[in-house]
Amino acid sequence: MAFGIDITLMSMCYIAIALVIGALLLGLISLQLFIYFTTGVCKSKRKMNGKTVLITGCTSGIGKETARDLAKREARIIMACRNVDAATKLKDELVNDTGNTNIVVKKLDLSSLKSIREFAEQINREEKNVHVLIHNAGTAETFKKKITEDGIEMTMATNQYGPFLLTHLLIDLLKRSAPSRIIFVASELYHLATLNFDNLNPTTTFPAYLYYVSKYANIVFTLELARRLKGTGVTANCLHPGMINSGIWRNVPAPLSWGLNLIARGFFKTPVQGAQTSIHLAVSEDLNGVSGKYFLDCREYGLSQGVSDPAKGKKFWECCETITKMKATDPKI
Ligand SMILES: NC(=O)c1ccc[n+]([C@@H]2O[C@H](COP(=O)([O-])OP(=O)(O)OC[C@H]3O[C@@H](n4cnc5c(N)ncnc54)[C@H](OP(=O)(O)O)[C@@H]3O)[C@@H](O)[C@H]2O)c1
Repeated sequence: MAFGIDITLMSMCYIAIALVIGALLLGLISLQLFIYFTTGVCKSKRKMNGKTVLITGCTSGIGKETARDLAKREARIIMACRNVDAATKLKDELVNDTGNTNIVVKKLDLSSLKSIREFAEQINREEKNVHVLIHNAGTAETFKKKITEDGIEMTMATNQYGPFLLTHLLIDLLKRSAPSRIIFVASELYHLATLNFDNLNPTTTFPAYLYYVSKYANIVFTLELARRLKGTGVTANCLHPGMINSGIWRNVPAPLSWGLNLIARGFFKTPVQGAQTSIHLAVSEDLNGVSGKYFLDCREYGLSQGVSDPAKGKKFWECCETITKMKATDPKI
């Protein structure tokens, strides 16, 4: 009798375990289907012959797939990367895959004001046009505090202050190339942060938090840039690519990275999916003249009131000019 009850209990246990595993699998498949069907896809078939696209940080992740797509569309691609060897290898891969030989690699380290100036000087000297500037490069730290050679906190320097200076140094070329577009890869994680005007070079703040601050700053900057560029033929828009399984998480240390890697593999989008909104903003005819907007999944998306405040944008702009040591002879926007 007791033996019979044991078997019934065991069977019920097996059924319960099977039900839990089944429910988990069903949940996972439903989530994957949800991600698949809700991910924005750039529908434009536009070719980009005759257009020059400059993409920062395209040795991996979203930037790499953005470069690949735009190379297929026959644009001239300027790969602005700090790791020239990795970029050159990728360039060869892209030429091979797409048949587009009009791809060049240029050295750019966005954490160095000197490197940005040297890069911009070379681009202004060598390039007739830049029709699309994609501020894609980004870095994220978890615990390690890093300061650049210019005394600027590393995450803010790479993700915000470097692109601010670069935009200024290329603005005359972008204006001459009009209609032209500036695109900033920001993040929905901006919701987790704000700008502390008393400490815009936060060298002692928890680095992981500064990633969110830098993405908040990207949006404030893009909106102010769009206001200042009104009537010039140069537009400025920003975007959230989605949560993407890319290299941006590489600095998360173990054991945190173990869980994160599992989640990223199971639930995050691929870099190809992550590149769609950047591509859409670069090529879509529907966006001719559209400026000062934020996009997600290839659609315009709302922003919080705080990040869209024009007074904040103006004040932040002036702070950026000081932090990036802008010279009186630099172009003004
Ligand atoms: N992944 C996401 O879930 C997610 C979500 C929202 C927004 N984003 C944003 O998407 C953009 C692309 O990131 P990703 O996810 O594709 O990550 P990724 O694979 O790590 O790519 C980042 C790129 O930025 C480059 N980079 C880093 N520091 C640089 C510097 N100082 N100068 C020049 N290039 C530098 C990297 O070059 P190296 O190879 O030399 O390191 C790499 O090519 C970033 O702006 C990120 O903030 C990502």
